[in-house]
Amino acid sequence: MKEEISRVKEELEEKLKKVSTLKDLNNLRVEYLGKKGKVTLLLKKLRDIPPDERPVFGKLINDLKLWTQEKLEEYFEIVRKRVQEEKFKSERVDITLPGRAPDLGAYHPVHTTMAEIIDVFVRMGFEVAEGPDIEDDYHNFQALNIPPEHPARDMQDTFYVDRENFLLRTHTSPVQIRTMEKQRPPIHIIAPGKVYRRDADLTHTPMFHQVEGLLVDVDVTFADLKGTLTMFAREIFGPETRVRFRPSFFPFTEPSVEMDIQCVICGGKGCRVCKYTGWLEILGAGMVDPEVFKYVDIDPDKYTGFAFGMGVERIAMLKYGIDDIRLLFENNLRFLSQFR
Ligand code: FA5
Repeated sequence: MKEEISRVKEELEEKLKKVSTLKDLNNLRVEYLGKKGKVTLLLKKLRDIPPDERPVFGKLINDLKLWTQEKLEEYFEIVRKRVQEEKFKSERVDITLPGRAPDLGAYHPVHTTMAEIIDVFVRMGFEVAEGPDIEDDYHNFQALNIPPEHPARDMQDTFYVDRENFLLRTHTSPVQIRTMEKQRPPIHIIAPGKVYRRDADLTHTPMFHQVEGLLVDVDVTFADLKGTLTMFAREIFGPETRVRFRPSFFPFTEPSVEMDIQCVICGGKGCRVCKYTGWLEILGAGMVDPEVFKYVDIDPDKYTGFAFGMGVERIAMLKYGIDDIRLLFENNLRFLSQFR
């Protein structure tokens, strides 16, 4: 019996050394202290021992039971600590590492330029108007005094949506007509938006943006047009910017002009960008043709007005020194992230 007691004790000591999880430990508890556990069985065997020896062995086995309980508890603490340490180690976070900065987006340069142009005119008192991208022939051409045989109406230049009447607007000028149809003077609007033409090269894309302007009131003169557009150019390109107006032609304005700014690249000395002229064209404009007023029932003897239209990509290219318009539409992030 004595031997058995010390064998159980030695065996348990060996097993405890090998324990690595709390589950192992629990299995040992069952193996030794459970109903059929080794220590429990020893206690049961007491019955077979002669009564006079029982107190001695009883004490020995009881001591073994207490010792077993204490050991299991001791190891429980050891294993629990070890498991926790391993968990901490595996989940360790190095709080001294620098954080990962979120990847910030940026406004597209066309958007930024458009917003700046709108802001300049809104500060001068213009309101923003809108019109549909899919237009009818009447608003895009006819009411703007563009005759049926005009080359812009050609299938080569215009995207037609159907054979009869509908097309993707080729300019923002139809918003002039739509505004004058529902509003009486004084009118002072700008109309920013997308326009579409069958065009594709270094300086032309099939879709681009324009900002249209229209001001109609009594006593509006060509001097008002010049003053407004000169002011606009200086706000966008800087207060020293020089401008000039050249005679031009649009069916819906008379007289018509194109406005140039002094080349922002060479300052007027002449370079590749301005084709050695020192000047860059940025918009078309003119006094509203009285023929157009007739379509919208505004009395040309009482009212006069001016209108203008500019290509936003063109202005963005000049502002940012971009030499190929297609860069603006390729969505190359290396290009776009420069405008953050
Ligand atoms: C017009 O579209 C007239 N509606 C402007 C106007 C409005 C004149 C009101 C008078 C009164 P134009 O076709 O020139 O004009 O175009 C205006 C600008 O759009 C051009 O100066 C150019 O900067 C830009 N543009 C024209 N075609 C393209 C294209 N395919 N891609 C990018 N920009 C273009």
